[in-house]
Amino acid sequence: MNGGICLSCEAIERYLGEEEERVHALRGVSLDIETGSVHAVVGPSGCGKSTLLYVLGLLDLPDAGQVAIESEPVSHLSDDELAHKRNKFIGFIFQFHFLMDEFTAQENVTIPMRKLGQLSDAQMRERAADLLEAVGLGDKLRRLSRHLSGGEQQRVAIARALANDPRVILADEPTGNLDTANSERAFELLQNLVHDRGKALLLATHNPAIAEACDWTHEMKDGRITASHARGQRNSNF
Ligand SMILES: Nc1ncnc2c1ncn2[C@@H]1O[C@H](COP(=O)(O)OP(=O)(O)OP(=O)(O)O)[C@@H](O)[C@H]1O
Ligand SMILES: [Mg+2]
Repeated sequence: MNGGICLSCEAIERYLGEEEERVHALRGVSLDIETGSVHAVVGPSGCGKSTLLYVLGLLDLPDAGQVAIESEPVSHLSDDELAHKRNKFIGFIFQFHFLMDEFTAQENVTIPMRKLGQLSDAQMRERAADLLEAVGLGDKLRRLSRHLSGGEQQRVAIARALANDPRVILADEPTGNLDTANSERAFELLQNLVHDRGKALLLATHNPAIAEACDWTHEMKDGRITASHARGQRNSNF
């Protein structure tokens, strides 16, 4: 399912840190993500991948440039409005999944639904159960997340990112701390969601096999996208 541009950014600049620590982390980054497509951002450690995902995910504001959701600019919105957009449109999978240790798998998945406040308790629990079923954890709904394996926790984080049926999934090295089998499984799960349910996915990855399986790969260096290529077309310049 291919469609229009669901998330984009233009001429993003971002500085991080104070005074002599100050880093020019993003230097004019522009990117368009279409519905139905899977994009990878690759590049050496420190090149700005996480910073870009945080800006696109409305978790951080750029110093210049614009982020747009479905062609509607959002960077001028208030914090509350940004939080609402983020909860509704974007599912974020963090590099270190940040689950609530003392909560069950099911409770973790209901948290974003609670924030959005559109479903009853029973509906939230049912939806969380369905999502956990879909990631192969139907039998572990009531397990505390700290009693799950790393791969299982990552799948809970994927289910949580899907809680509010977001159009866009942003994933910061979603498979970074998984073994090969689990990381391929997590990636396939995300890829299938995009293709079957008309979502879009942008992931940062250090895994060349995963990047090559994406529809688009964007190479980043020193805060810039230096090349973008479609699958199988490695050397075409941006
Ligand atoms: N809070 C911060 N304060 C100061 N500098 C920061 C901060 N966060 C990140 N940086 C710097 O910004 C640059 C980009 O960092 P970023 O985390 O986006 O890199 P990355 O490409 O995700 O790296 P990795 O592959 O290691 O995850 C780096 O030079 C980093 O040191
Ligand atoms: Mg990073």
